[in-house]
Amino acid sequence: MKINANYNNLEKSYLFITIAKKLNEYKEAHPEADIIKMGIGDVTRPLCPAVVNAMNRAVTEMGNAETFRGYGDEQGYSFLQDAIKGYYAGKGVELETDEIFVSDGAKSDLGNILDLISTENTVLVPDPVYPVYVDTNVMAGRKIAYMTGSEENGFLPMPGDAPEADIVYLCSPNNPTGAVYDKDQLKEWVDWANERDALILFDAAYEAFVGDENLPTSIYQIEGAKTCAIEVCSFSKTAGFTGTRCGYTVVPHALVRENTELNPMWRRRQTTKFNGVPYIVQRGAEAVFTEEGYAQTRADIAYYKENARIMAAALDEVGVTYFGGINSPYIWMKIPGGMTGWEFFDKLLEEANVVGTPGVGFGKAGEGYFRLTAFGNKERTIEAMERIKKLISLI
Ligand code: MLT
Repeated sequence: MKINANYNNLEKSYLFITIAKKLNEYKEAHPEADIIKMGIGDVTRPLCPAVVNAMNRAVTEMGNAETFRGYGDEQGYSFLQDAIKGYYAGKGVELETDEIFVSDGAKSDLGNILDLISTENTVLVPDPVYPVYVDTNVMAGRKIAYMTGSEENGFLPMPGDAPEADIVYLCSPNNPTGAVYDKDQLKEWVDWANERDALILFDAAYEAFVGDENLPTSIYQIEGAKTCAIEVCSFSKTAGFTGTRCGYTVVPHALVRENTELNPMWRRRQTTKFNGVPYIVQRGAEAVFTEEGYAQTRADIAYYKENARIMAAALDEVGVTYFGGINSPYIWMKIPGGMTGWEFFDKLLEEANVVGTPGVGFGKAGEGYFRLTAFGNKERTIEAMERIKKLISLI
């Protein structure tokens, strides 16, 4: 057999696996080190009581012959689709139930959605950005064009800066920079896509961190988006589901390319290759949208945002330039002293026992920057920032 030789074009390992490997090597050599992790954006707050109670009830149902459930609908149970629909209605977005597809998370959907798209298309990817967009397209052998996010454009590249392409990835709030597109900027992207029958893949995984009510939290808040955009979202960062696994993708019926609706294509793909998210998990996800669940999950988000505020204040004290951290759980800081991302990563790990993510891991344009996550425990975040301040004051 012949292998998919496109894999030879990938970086040797996925960014966060490389970081985990480096960390494990360091831990083996220094078992006594008290390490604080601010690398991968993994949550630390436990599932909230509303979610836990809903999941417990679902476990009991699954253990009872009268209420037991076997295979579920691949598209998700309608109770969860309707809860998501209600959430969007609260944002002023009307969706049909069958436009919402429940999945095991944004990462899977962002990769799997490419099944619908010819490998002849050119994809446009911001640089820096979540590495999954690039890696999944490299695997498929698709041509990738880049548009640079820089301090000059507020890390929000616009169509005017972009080369021609058939598909564009937009991530807002952006991972890793924390930048958020406003409505006018997103409208420019929607017009760009509709004019050339292109597709926007909109990653809204961090939407729950947007505190400014003038900023959009869904691409469908922009007129014309239903004819050009697929939105991918997740409960990972919204409700602490990184280990529980649940997300969803919206494919509007109005999205038609080459006389073909993408919605039934995606349903065909999912019903063939995916058996759905566990009932117990979907009941937990449903609880996120109850009054109680919403209040509890938003309290956790406020906790992380307070961490981000503490981190930003510490960087202010030592005069380091940074971005993000307001409508986002990430702080995107400029590396002091002219070090590269990986040099600073090693220095921080070895001298402060703090783990972060080199900006260059998110793309060439990320070199010279470093990402810190606010998803940690508050006391540990304070401790990490004390160590970082000390280290930076010696550079
Ligand atoms: C990140 O750290 O960028 C994210 O946690 C990765 C992910 O969500 O897959």
